Amino acid sequence: MSDPLFWHRVQFGFTVTYHYLFPQLTMGLALLIVILKVGALRRLKSHPADTSWDDAARFWVRIFGLNFAMGVVTGVPMEFQFGTNWARFSAHAGGVIGQTLAMEGIFAFFLESSFLAALVWGERKLSRGWHLAAAVALFVGSWLSGYFIVTTNAFMQHPVGYETAPDGSLQVARLAEFLFNPWALAQYAHTMMAAVVTASFVMSAVGAFWLLRQEHSAPAAVSLRVGVVAGLVSALLVAAPTGHVQGQMVAAHQPVALAAMEGHFASGAHAPIVMIGQPNVAALRLDNPIEIPSVLSWVAYGDFSAPVRGLADFPREEWPTNVELLYYSFHVMVGLGTLFILLMAVATLQLLRRRLLASRGLLWVLMLAFPFPYIATTAGWMTTELGRQPWLLYGLYRTAEGGSPTVHGGSTLFTTLGFAGLYLVLGLLFVFLVWHEVSHGPRSLRPATDRPGPA
Ligand code: HEM
Repeated sequence: MSDPLFWHRVQFGFTVTYHYLFPQLTMGLALLIVILKVGALRRLKSHPADTSWDDAARFWVRIFGLNFAMGVVTGVPMEFQFGTNWARFSAHAGGVIGQTLAMEGIFAFFLESSFLAALVWGERKLSRGWHLAAAVALFVGSWLSGYFIVTTNAFMQHPVGYETAPDGSLQVARLAEFLFNPWALAQYAHTMMAAVVTASFVMSAVGAFWLLRQEHSAPAAVSLRVGVVAGLVSALLVAAPTGHVQGQMVAAHQPVALAAMEGHFASGAHAPIVMIGQPNVAALRLDNPIEIPSVLSWVAYGDFSAPVRGLADFPREEWPTNVELLYYSFHVMVGLGTLFILLMAVATLQLLRRRLLASRGLLWVLMLAFPFPYIATTAGWMTTELGRQPWLLYGLYRTAEGGSPTVHGGSTLFTTLGFAGLYLVLGLLFVFLVWHEVSHGPRSLRPATDRPGPA
């Protein structure tokens, strides 16, 4: 209670983690819905009576809508927290990060919301071509929205394109440099691929669930096929090149964070990558390690013999504030990412052998696997944000400087409990509505022959 900063951090960490459960699915689904709509157009050309792709797309648009609503409701309070809990940070850096946060609201969010309405309610009014165009616009809006948010975070990780005003605050000096921050490009590619992983796993889980219950077999098979193939492609891309490039960014600009993520205490060439082990910070070593020699040197610098600085070589005040949590978050993310590739590779193989729909054991695994991308994504963000500590703006402005000076820790704890209660109720309502949709299954519109043809 005596440390308001701690409670400000708890509140933001809690609300942002909860919030991001929703946009990761909407951003991933936005791409998969476009794929389903394109698939529907192609399928109807060859089989005019087969509406399974359209039925699957319609179902996933409804799930998108529910997630979108939750994303909006849980996203708005965070914008206010910049003012209530992080007033000094907002006064210092608002001239820069306010740009992208506003651009997100004005350009991307409105695009996304308008076309979501067209997608949900416009299917009877629009031709198939225009309905697909609405899906594409929704995809563009939601991915653009993601870009502006990631760019804001990237500025905090690797500040570029700014200048310091006479009053000490920051403002944008070179807009293109700020908007196309190399950190943002790498982070965006990785984050969006992770969102597609989440959506693919959710899509295959629901497809598997229907097939196991022997319901809605045609849209179930479509959801499973699209989910599994997109799952394999995105799980591969999340590891390489996107995860690898992110690792190189961290090595270049936050070497102390890299050392902590890897539990790498002693500097040296041929640095090993750690598969398993427990960081023992007091003794400056990793306990019970299982390592692969030289791989960290290669991952970080593209050279198996490159020296990698260990944590012990950095001054303590530069260390991330929670080395253990950072280390475990990173290893949970990478460990799960490896399992995702294996699972989706096996599922794709069975799909190619035309055995997936009847492999009940594998369908059970796919159905139960959907929470894990949420865990990997949360672990990923924890890695990024814990690795940034003790800085709010890396190398420029410390977290300790950014809190609101007049807000008491008790007030922040009180409002955090309020958020927790509200989010619990909202979460239960959300689960009920999604369960209702899933158990009801895809709804058909009307016979395909009555509907307008391609635009
Ligand atoms: C499989 C190999 C993977 C590698 C090598 C990898 C690598 C990385 C790295 C280096 C970071 C940045 C850490 C920092 O900025 O300090 C990161 C962040 C992140 N990762 Fe991963 N990752 C992998 C798998 C995954 C998976 C499977 C997911 C989720 C499905 C995921 C989601 C994220 C997210 C959401 C972030 C935070 C945003 C960002 O900074 O990009 N990652 N990852």
